Amino acid sequence: HAPLRVALVGLGTVGGGVIRLLQTNGDLIARRAGCPIQVVAISARDRNKDRGVDISPYEWVDDMTTLAARDDIDVVVELIGGADGPALTLARQCLTAGKPFVTANKAMLAHHGLDLAALAEKAGIALKYEAAVAGGIPVIKGMREGAAANEISRVYGILNGTCNYILTTMEKEGRGFDDVLKEAQELGFAEADPSFDIDGVDAAHKLTILASLAFGTELDFDNVAITGIRHVIAADIAEAAALGYRIRLVGMAENGPDGLFQRVHPMLVPTDHPLAHVDGSLNAVVVEGNFVGRLFFEGRGAGEGPTASAVVADLIDVARDEYGDAFAMPVAALSPQPPADAGHR
Ligand code: HSE
Repeated sequence: HAPLRVALVGLGTVGGGVIRLLQTNGDLIARRAGCPIQVVAISARDRNKDRGVDISPYEWVDDMTTLAARDDIDVVVELIGGADGPALTLARQCLTAGKPFVTANKAMLAHHGLDLAALAEKAGIALKYEAAVAGGIPVIKGMREGAAANEISRVYGILNGTCNYILTTMEKEGRGFDDVLKEAQELGFAEADPSFDIDGVDAAHKLTILASLAFGTELDFDNVAITGIRHVIAADIAEAAALGYRIRLVGMAENGPDGLFQRVHPMLVPTDHPLAHVDGSLNAVVVEGNFVGRLFFEGRGAGEGPTASAVVADLIDVARDEYGDAFAMPVAALSPQPPADAGHR
């Protein structure tokens, strides 16, 4: 079969990982996808940055706004990040032009996901975002496909690798917050603006997406009650441990009689709960369905390899022509947003 021709926009940690993954596993990916997946064009802010991968085989595109109209590109992968700005412009252009779109951009989806999904539906093309939530864990596919027959009562988990790395390293090594945050940045887990991580915003973006998938409700980021981990100190962790708990930043969404309830905050997790054993940059997501029971997904939620793995899985879906509505049902069928104060009771 003819190759799937990919334009890759944004060449940070994850973009470099996508190139490396396609170079390393290209043959088996081609067998599974039914055709080779080839990066043909790349675009990023700085052409000369050393990324540790050879980008010379690929066409460098200075103006990414030209990509949507190109007939020699089958799918655009956006790894720039940011809720608005160039990522959103690119997404709108591509989806309007009928170009399938793969993104890891949770901020953009949390704020504009429905508009983008509507564009994709109108054009009858894929909008895929497995990498946007919990890095390498296939939780979007797990919910859209594996748990699709269930009524979901609750979805919750550890959705930010940087925070989990900070909390668990402080706990195990007795080190200070700032010191461990710096290390998480060096390891490539943290967002460009790490306050998104430590103030809980990144986890809230991901929770918004999970809640919409779980309950068929509209994306409702504005009603997530958010507290980050900035004020957690070593003494809190020690005291929790003495009482049989560990502190984790947990995001939780429930759809109850009063509407949708979404929150992100540091929680005391009993040491006999599986979430208490999720360490380092790992993420975990728990989904409770009325027929399947409790599903527990765990894996690496940040960093180059895991996030690239999720991006390429989406490309394989596009190559196989396996995709449906972005939020598992048409935008028109999603329930409206709950009352404005539902997240703050
Ligand atoms: N900064 C994010 C995290 C990256 O630490 O989890 C993955 O979305």
